[in-house]
Amino acid sequence: MNRYKTIDPATLTLPAWHPYLIGSVIPRPIAWVSTLNAEGRPNLAPFSYFGAFSSKPPVVGFSPSTSARTGKPKDTHRNLQEVPECVIHLVPYALAARMNITTGEYEPEINEIEKAGLETLPAELVRPPRIAGTPVQLEGKVRAILPLGENPGAGQLILVDIVRLHLDETILDEKGYPDPRKMDVIARLGAFWYARIRAENLFWMKQPRNPAEVLAWDELPEDLRTSSVLTAAEIGHLLAHRPAEAEKLRSLPRPADPVALHRQMQALLPHDAPAAWRLYLEALKMT
Ligand SMILES: Cc1cc2nc3c(=O)[nH]c(=O)nc-3n(C[C@H](O)[C@H](O)[C@H](O)COP(=O)(O)O)c2cc1C
Repeated sequence: MNRYKTIDPATLTLPAWHPYLIGSVIPRPIAWVSTLNAEGRPNLAPFSYFGAFSSKPPVVGFSPSTSARTGKPKDTHRNLQEVPECVIHLVPYALAARMNITTGEYEPEINEIEKAGLETLPAELVRPPRIAGTPVQLEGKVRAILPLGENPGAGQLILVDIVRLHLDETILDEKGYPDPRKMDVIARLGAFWYARIRAENLFWMKQPRNPAEVLAWDELPEDLRTSSVLTAAEIGHLLAHRPAEAEKLRSLPRPADPVALHRQMQALLPHDAPAAWRLYLEALKMT
């Protein structure tokens, strides 16, 4: 049975295609961007076509599209052509509704920062203000603006060199780096759905420096590979946490009661894969 609905974007209008794209490329972080126009009037707006593209030089990008409603460039885009500097903020859950106020397509003379009742802080190297209460603030200077089309809905990709990073002290881990468990930032999904990044939804999976740091599928004992108890995701956590005794796994006997053993292991997954492995190896007298 074909389980896939296949879509050709070229055959669809912007309103028909847009929900597929924003519903499929998820989650998207939100760049909450403050800019100034040539007269120095501030503007603040959210953009979820946003990502980081280079570490050194540090470059991020976001993409205001030509408005589908008016066919004109968005204020943020126009401002960046006039004053090529911005501050990009991540949006905390606590300010989600305020962010939503700043998405309103107000006339250019309206100050969205005041409309949303937000407080500002001065930036160090750029003229637009920083928004207080946001956990992460990136001061940036425009490197390039790449038009992806002139029609309504066409993105205007703005690449920004990061010149300063400000981090709220309360989100830092013991080494001084941002701790995702403390940030409570939001991400945009399809339609009007959002995700909230909270500790209980996170998992840890170290990136292997070489293939020997993870367990390959063919090293996994046969009872685990064919388990009727463990889910694909749970088996994935076992693969991601190669046990110290991995070399010996091939020579192990099959457990006497795999179902019971897998159930015990399941209780420890996904959060404690090393303990699940210890349980398995103890049951087979490998430790
Ligand atoms: C969470 C969120 C994400 C958004 N992402 C984008 C985006 O990536 N590109 C875009 O053109 N509009 C996006 N919008 C809509 C803009 O925020 C909206 O058009 C806004 O009025 C633009 O403001 P400006 O004209 O002051 O620049 C988004 C809105 C929300 C609420």
